[in-house]
Amino acid sequence: MRYHLETKHHFSRFARSLGYLDWANQPDPFRRYQGAPLFALPLLKPADAPGSPLYEDLYRPGAIASAPLTVRSLSRLFEYALAISAWKQAGEVRWALRSNPSSGNLHPTEAYLLIDEVAGLSPGPALYHYAAKEHALELRAQWPTERFKRLLQGFPPEAFLIGFSSIIWRESWKYGERAFRYCQHDVGHAIGSARIAAQTLGWRMLLLDGVADDTLAALLGVDRAQDFEAAEREHPDCVAVIWPSNQAAGALTDGASGVPLFLAADAVGDVTRHIWHGRANRLSRGDPVQWEMLDQVVAASWKSSTEQRVVELNHEGPGADPSNPATRPVVGQPSAGQVIRQRRSAVAFDGTTPISAASFFTMLTRVMPAAERDLLARAMPWDVLPWEPAVHLALFVHRVDGLVPGLYLLARDPAKMAALRSATRPQFDWTSPPGCPDGLPLFLLQEGDARALAAELSCRQAIAGDSAFSLGMLAEFEPSMRRHGPWFYRRLFWETGLIGQVLYLEAEAAGVRATGIGCFFDDPVHEVMGISDASFQSLYHFTTGGPVLDPRLTTLPPYVLDHCMARSQAAHVRNNSKPSTMRWTGSFDIAHSVRCGGSKIPMAP
Ligand SMILES: Cc1cc2nc3c(=O)[nH]c(=O)nc-3n(C[C@H](O)[C@H](O)[C@H](O)COP(=O)(O)O)c2cc1C
Repeated sequence: MRYHLETKHHFSRFARSLGYLDWANQPDPFRRYQGAPLFALPLLKPADAPGSPLYEDLYRPGAIASAPLTVRSLSRLFEYALAISAWKQAGEVRWALRSNPSSGNLHPTEAYLLIDEVAGLSPGPALYHYAAKEHALELRAQWPTERFKRLLQGFPPEAFLIGFSSIIWRESWKYGERAFRYCQHDVGHAIGSARIAAQTLGWRMLLLDGVADDTLAALLGVDRAQDFEAAEREHPDCVAVIWPSNQAAGALTDGASGVPLFLAADAVGDVTRHIWHGRANRLSRGDPVQWEMLDQVVAASWKSSTEQRVVELNHEGPGADPSNPATRPVVGQPSAGQVIRQRRSAVAFDGTTPISAASFFTMLTRVMPAAERDLLARAMPWDVLPWEPAVHLALFVHRVDGLVPGLYLLARDPAKMAALRSATRPQFDWTSPPGCPDGLPLFLLQEGDARALAAELSCRQAIAGDSAFSLGMLAEFEPSMRRHGPWFYRRLFWETGLIGQVLYLEAEAAGVRATGIGCFFDDPVHEVMGISDASFQSLYHFTTGGPVLDPRLTTLPPYVLDHCMARSQAAHVRNNSKPSTMRWTGSFDIAHSVRCGGSKIPMAP
């Protein structure tokens, strides 16, 4: 609670940070484990197998057949979840964008894979670190088969684990004390991008929320001081199980009928005896700037408990809901892969483009967990978070055709309506807008032009007012932390990140664009809502509308240039010639393509 209070932005002062960017000390966005064997994942073209389902099929239960678990399907999983999706270039400067967004594009989130033997990877079960720049898996530890089997006993056949950690320094380098919040947002986005990537393959995913953080740190190897001697440390965040969904009911090992939300501590226990590979690379020249407040929130939100909960798995997931308005016409629909690859944050909005009420309602329907208390019957991707929805949306509607501009509220769990009503201004209207689909708990609170207000509240960023709508995510704050424990603080941010990830893709599918907003003035948002205590807090803002593209930026395709460079360097070695001083040896031509050897690679504007 103190951390949250201390890291609020106020009109009169921002949360503490250095106040300038120490460019000489900028952390490398790519972690590598030096000395660890590297297994390249195949670089798949969009049409290569496993191909992508239609974007809309992600939300049609049972529409996607389960892909076999191979190195190719794993490549797709990581491509859609965390890979580089483009390089941007302005003048001499180039930077990578990824399938998952990140506050400040700093990408604190690292990912790990613990999986049984897969042809093309290490023989036997193993823990890997995902190397995004190479789209490859680094072998971190080999697991004895018996021990791996014991660890995943009780999970569906072919189940494997994906774990996330955060390099807090990557965020604190820029954002100082508020960095912990951004790391947690980014974890939520990564959970979302991984859950949606798994869905493209017909796989399910569930966060193992009962695991204690010490167990998680040991599992991922981020507690191994000897491997991080000169390197910036990683904070263990979470681990999830993924499994092919046609392996659901009746196919569980030992005749079990549920999925555990925990890992047997004795099976994780002495991973120190495993064969470990590699040492973490150093990311910055100087040491990380120390922020005591960050150490304190890490300690306060550390999860020491293990809950041995099992969720029932007696069906294949939610049935099709005929009343669900969230379906777009099938003709001309994009594939999920296309939407994921093209996802970008808008840097500016045009201040004119509206969206239709139907699009708006579809987007909001997609962030509804279809709040069954039965976890695995929830709508994708809400079946990944094993807790009751605790985040609601305060919406600033600017340009939605058919809706009056103003302040709206979406109660993502209708059971919390009474609490939301009593925490907010008594004079709010609470009327259902015209055309609102049955069962969508959306309410107009107050009519009015909220464009300037929304921008003002989001750190005076025009993107919150020039869009079609923007929003603040109101989390059930103190009550949920009192109920679960202080570690739930992180979960609240993960839920907001997942909402953001769904909305990012929804915006692309609807022909507009979105941007996450981590910078906002916390208490002024609460004042607008009339919230005067810690029952609800705004944790994350978001905006969606017609984007303005920056013509100064060139977009380069991912991975091909690096392969092009590697090929060209190999040629220099072969010919004993002097390598080019350029970072890559292709050249741009006016047709906006790059030549690599004999081939011409087109680039997006
Ligand atoms: C948690 C979070 C907070 C963000 N906050 C802001 C913000 O306050 N203002 C802004 O213009 N962009 C913000 N962004 C957008 C990022 O700058 C953007 O994701 C990043 O540059 C990577 O670009 P991409 O989303 O196109 O991949 C935020 C993104 C995330 C995930």
